[in-house]
This record gives sequence, structure tokens and C-alpha cells, in this order.
Amino acid sequence: MLRCDIITIFPDFFRETFAYGIIRRARAAGLVELEAHDLRRWTSDKHRIVDDRPFGGGEGMVLKPEPIFAAVRELTGAASRKDYASQTRVILLSPQGRVFTQAMAQDLSQQTSHIVLICGRYEGVDERVADELVTDEVSIGDYVLSGGEPAALVVIDALIRLLPGAVGNESSTTNESFTESLLDCPQYTRPPEFSGLKVPEVLLNGHHAEIARWRREAALKKTERNRPDLLK
Ligand SMILES: C[S@@+](CC[C@H](N)C(=O)[O-])C[C@H]1O[C@@H](n2cnc3c(N)ncnc32)[C@H](O)[C@@H]1O
Repeated sequence: MLRCDIITIFPDFFRETFAYGIIRRARAAGLVELEAHDLRRWTSDKHRIVDDRPFGGGEGMVLKPEPIFAAVRELTGAASRKDYASQTRVILLSPQGRVFTQAMAQDLSQQTSHIVLICGRYEGVDERVADELVTDEVSIGDYVLSGGEPAALVVIDALIRLLPGAVGNESSTTNESFTESLLDCPQYTRPPEFSGLKVPEVLLNGHHAEIARWRREAALKKTERNRPDLLK
């Protein structure tokens, strides 16, 4: 069982999305336990303030360290990164992080039993959180979102579908894009002809070796066209 705790100022963001598809099934099957926590729960002032102005000046607000430290300490039972249990990871979603890949999703799905995800907002999170608490600073791509919540969802979705038993047919996670530095091959379904557009003949002939060869070549062509960087 994998446990994922999300620290956010918008816990309702996750409510609906956890109720669909593979995430819903994985929860129902007891493969994963997901909980979105309101960061304000760990404030101690009357107004439940989680942000403040940046030292040195500049635009916007920064998430304060105290509530995040209190949240991570309670959820991990440890004072800082060096005291976490061996299968615990604390992930800060940040455009300044390492770019998330399928290999990282695989690593997380195999090596961890507890993940805490910290979602930033505004100008970001006080750097002492990254320095002291975070094991992985993760970006989902070279663009800036307004908050870490969509990024946390991307990470959670990618790794839950890799948990053994989460996806019905196991081969559907082993033959996918990025598992072999290739994109997946193009897929077609019925009807064989639609508006004059035909499915490649080879896929209709039932000859498994020919279909496998065609798929390999089509995957290679698609990778060359859309992601030549993967072939280097
Ligand atoms: C507006 S962003 C802060 C951007 C920050 N000032 C910068 O330029 O690096 C607010 C929050 O959204 C999240 N975020 C934005 N872009 C992200 C990305 N590409 N990957 C992961 N999280 C992201 C982070 O949690 C971040 O703290």
C-alpha cells in the first residue's frame, strides 16, 4: 500500500479527480491511500496565514516555512530529511525542480511506501523547505503554473498506474511511450474505414509477426518526427 499526503491550500482541488478511472480503482483496491491536507490546519494565528512578503522586496507573496515544517513533521513523524523512514519521499512541486519523467515515476512507484507532496502557490515556497525537508524537487515541464496542485496530480497519476495491479492488463504499462526510449506506436480501432480514412492494411490481417514489425517501425517514425531527442 502506497500512502500519498498532499499539502495544499486548495484541498478541494483533488476531491473530484480522485474519484475517477485508475485512481479511483486503485484506491478501492487498497493499492493507494490519498489524502489532501489543508495547509492552514498547521497555522497557529487567528487568520490562519500561510504566506508573507518576500525578503529583499519584489512582487507577490511566498508560502511561509512554519506551517509547512509543522505539516511535514507531523505527516512523516520526522524533524528533517535525514530522519525519514527509508521509503519516505517528500516532493516539492516547483518549476525549478528536475523535470519529471517516466523513469522517475517508475522509481517512485517501486521504491516508496509514503510520499508527501508540497504544492506551492504565489511566488513559491520559502527555500528553507527545500533545504531541510525535501528529498525531490520536481517540475512537470518548462513552463510556469499558478500552483503546484495540477503538477501533484500529474505525478500521482503517473505513478499510481505503475503500481502492480492498478491497470487491468499489465502489458498496457510496459509497452507504453518512454519505457524503451521510444514513443508508443499509433493505435486504431473500428471502423476499418471512416470518411475515406483507412486503417493500415497490415493491422487487419491477423499476422502477429508482421503487426509487431509494423508497430516497431511506426513507433520509430513517430519518435523521429515528434521526439528525436529520445533517440540520441
Ligand atoms: C507561480 S509558481 C512560482 C514560480 C516561481 N516564482 C518561479 O519562477 O520559479 C507557483 C507554484 O506553482 C507550482 N509550479 C509552477 N510551475 C510548475 C512546474 N512547471 N512544475 C511543478 N510545479 C510548478 C510550484 O509549486 C510553485 O511554487
